[in-house]
Amino acid sequence: MEFCSARLAILQLVRTVAPADRPALLQWMRTTRDFDEFTQDNKDIILKSIAEDLRNHLPLEAMLSSEQLALQKMQQQPDPTVHVDAFLYDEDFIDSLCEEGKMSRNYCMVCGSHKTAPLGFISHSFSLMELKFMYHHVLPDLSGKILVDVGSRLGTVLYGGYLYSSAVQLYGVELNGDFCRLQEMIIKKYQFTDRIQVLHADICTQGLLLQNADVVIMNNVFEYFLNEADQARAWEYISHNVRKQGSLLVTVPSLEESLSGLQTNVQLSLWVEEIPLNYDVYPQEDIDKEALEQIHLYKIL
Ligand SMILES: C[S@@+](CC[C@H](N)C(=O)[O-])C[C@H]1O[C@@H](n2cnc3c(N)ncnc32)[C@H](O)[C@@H]1O
Repeated sequence: MEFCSARLAILQLVRTVAPADRPALLQWMRTTRDFDEFTQDNKDIILKSIAEDLRNHLPLEAMLSSEQLALQKMQQQPDPTVHVDAFLYDEDFIDSLCEEGKMSRNYCMVCGSHKTAPLGFISHSFSLMELKFMYHHVLPDLSGKILVDVGSRLGTVLYGGYLYSSAVQLYGVELNGDFCRLQEMIIKKYQFTDRIQVLHADICTQGLLLQNADVVIMNNVFEYFLNEADQARAWEYISHNVRKQGSLLVTVPSLEESLSGLQTNVQLSLWVEEIPLNYDVYPQEDIDKEALEQIHLYKIL
């Protein structure tokens, strides 16, 4: 059936629905995820186009001179480590950059130049695969729900949530003003303003937002960006304010790992219950299962 005939057939069908049921049907058509299987490819294409726009506004390493502490912490890693943003650069892209000599997967163990042993890669964003796993397999239907991404950086969790979920409102809170401006540019260009809002703030000033959230996402938020005392303070603040019973918290890595080595009074067993995840949902595909296994889901008690 061609587009015009399909459109007429759908309008005809809607006219035959009992008038009292029509609002419910139209509401379902506007908000349901039942059509996802027909539009999936288009959503991936939009996210890839956003990644291209962001690449054009960022240096290759996708870190900014305004994030001094994060740059310093990268240099203090025990083995030479580079930041390769997994949303901006997938494996194929990295291969082609290596072939062009613009990136290297290795370094020389003697002089430190990028020549012979494997370099450590760190990503400060979720990849497209991780976003799809989170919205399709980790989180339930988010119709009518409020989601907060703590440390939204490039905005990947927000764009993914706009396209892959029915969350009514998606908030990003980001400490770095340069990244907030980048997110605003994308939100405006792709007309996401009806459901996405970015706040340039320290999360430790956003108690009310956290208290009202149904879902809170925390992808490696503090470790590379705050010193240990500030990390401990921030985790205390999160655990005092993410309190809505039954709300969900997604973290990378696990809460146990994030809190280990920090001096906090956070008592996990009184705060959250971990919900086991099935990490084998893409058995036939060439995916980074280790990265998926870093994603943890908790229900607030
Ligand atoms: C690893 S990135 C997370 C990126 C994004 N959420 C994702 O999953 O793709 C962590 C971000 O958190 C921000 N951040 C760190 N501490 C913060 C704080 N106290 N309040 C708000 N943002 C913070 C950093 O500036 C950084 O951009």
